Amino acid sequence: MAKKQPTISVIGTGFVGLTTAVLLAEAGYQVYAIDIDEERLAAIKQGRAFFYEAGINPLLKHVIENKRLIPTSSYVNCISQSDFIFSCVGTPDNPDGSSNLSYIFAAAKEALVHMKTGAVYIQKSTVPVGTGEKIEQLFNKSKKRIDYISNPEFLREGTAIEDTLNFDRVVIGSENGKSVDEVISLYKTIEKNRQAIAKRAKLKLPAGHKGEYFKTGRNSAELIKVTANAFLALKISFANSIAKLADKTGADINEIMDVVGADRRIGRAFLNAGRGYGGGCFPKDVSGLISSAADHNVDLQIMTAVSDINFTMPGYIAKKAQAELESLTGKRVAVLGLAFKAGTSDARRSPGVMLANILKRQGASVITYDPAANHEAENELRIGIDVAQTIEEAVNKTDAIFITTEWPVFLRYDLKKLAKQMKGNLFVDAMNVFNKAAVQKAGLQYIGVGR
Ligand code: UGA
Repeated sequence: MAKKQPTISVIGTGFVGLTTAVLLAEAGYQVYAIDIDEERLAAIKQGRAFFYEAGINPLLKHVIENKRLIPTSSYVNCISQSDFIFSCVGTPDNPDGSSNLSYIFAAAKEALVHMKTGAVYIQKSTVPVGTGEKIEQLFNKSKKRIDYISNPEFLREGTAIEDTLNFDRVVIGSENGKSVDEVISLYKTIEKNRQAIAKRAKLKLPAGHKGEYFKTGRNSAELIKVTANAFLALKISFANSIAKLADKTGADINEIMDVVGADRRIGRAFLNAGRGYGGGCFPKDVSGLISSAADHNVDLQIMTAVSDINFTMPGYIAKKAQAELESLTGKRVAVLGLAFKAGTSDARRSPGVMLANILKRQGASVITYDPAANHEAENELRIGIDVAQTIEEAVNKTDAIFITTEWPVFLRYDLKKLAKQMKGNLFVDAMNVFNKAAVQKAGLQYIGVGR
């Protein structure tokens, strides 16, 4: 007799939860996606993610139509039928930088009420080391024999589907090794169907794939996730520190990192200097790691430096521009890019927003524009900052423009046309993504970060 296909519940429909739910449903499993936010659920029911994510909508539409994915706000019926429960709820930070785990524990407690004996609870949310142990203790108090797995997520916003289909590694952390192979087999089913899923999502995947599966201890898995993000943040702050020295010495940080990164032991990725990192992950994961280390009497000075350096970058760029404009007071400046990176509508902890706010505080008249994040950034911008609906509207008669997100529409913009639209000619490439000579050739004055 054929083995019954497992049923799965995914708690939380953010970037991680919705991507996981959609891909498991595409792989053929019956999946319930649980969220308390009715507005999100309403969008999902119509086959639409409530955030911008490449390739997700065609998949979502497909699995909603064939009823493989059922969105719901109630734990009651779906959790009790589920063999696997994925926890993908948010872990925001507290004002002191530590992780706020209230959603994590609320989800685990509520799930425990409804889970059947022998179910597997899989933690995908980023949590400080030691969290899983506490949840396991909670589960062990019941007679239900729930197995707990730590399965941290490495996908990036904007490329979540592609990253999951083209993963470098899947980490399954467990203390008893019991359900590890079953969880791996869920991922292997997605992997087996990766090309068909990518085709439906209209994404191009490389033909070969060398993703690895790692079985680790539960606490190691928790630390792997934050260590990976912390190291990437460290690379960025390192590049930004050297960029400041390059500025003082007439060197070019892009030339430096192209060559330094050509060493395979180092690698070129995440060595791009600029306005610093932002988003819903790096800033909070770095502060969360510092705080969790402090709880164990470990002083992670290196990560405090990473965070401090990152914080200085928007101000550093504003100062460079100010030196050229003499004063920012009364100057009209445009900040192009409010998303924390291209390919997303997310403006959380966005360096572009931070820079716009600093320029405003220093007396400039600031107008901003982003092709996807205007709406999400609105509440983060200081009063009096205008939000334009087009690039043209933003750059019109400005003394200076600042490019803070590497959106293709900015990269492709006709520089000669831009020079004509502006009043002044200061072009601040806050991400070092433009060809300096081409900008200068268009009659603009180029400023980069470490160039
Ligand atoms: C990051 C990690 O890359 C993912 O592996 C991880 O799963 C995710 O956090 C998470 O914990 O959920 P994400 O925040 O989506 O993903 O974005 P990244 O592409 O990593 O970029 C983060 C920030 O660093 C952006 O603001 C980006 O502009 C900036 N960055 C990146 C630089 O300033 N320089 C670089 O060289 C690279």
